[in-house]
Amino acid sequence: MRKFFISGLLLIFTLNLACGTNVSKVTPEVSSGEKLYRSKCRTCHTLIEPKKFKDEEWKTFVEKYGSRVHLSVEEKEKILKYLVENN
Ligand code: HEC
Repeated sequence: MRKFFISGLLLIFTLNLACGTNVSKVTPEVSSGEKLYRSKCRTCHTLIEPKKFKDEEWKTFVEKYGSRVHLSVEEKEKILKYLVENN
């Protein structure tokens, strides 16, 4: 299941590159969500373990707190992907 999810992410990333967007971000999609989470979500509190919440809960929290720091839809999606992949 996890493997399937990761290859899906890789595919999305490859397509992204092919379209010429995000060329500057050469890091794989898999870790970019984690990076974003680590950089954007700990300005107000310590990072919360992905395992602490279920998919649905993370969705709500990423929306709620992501909007506070004006994350783009794309950034929120990446962070959410990282969280639900690791919970
Ligand atoms: C602008 C400051 C701020 C940022 C940035 C922020 N948070 Fe929070 N977060 C808070 C505060 C304040 C609380 C405590 C809320 C409370 O106790 O009522 C909190 C609590 C939480 C909780 C615990 C559940 C809850 O609502 O009490 C989760 C999960 C969470 N944040 C996720 C995130 C994620 C994911 C991000 C990155 C997208 C993020 N936070 C970024 C301020 C922030």
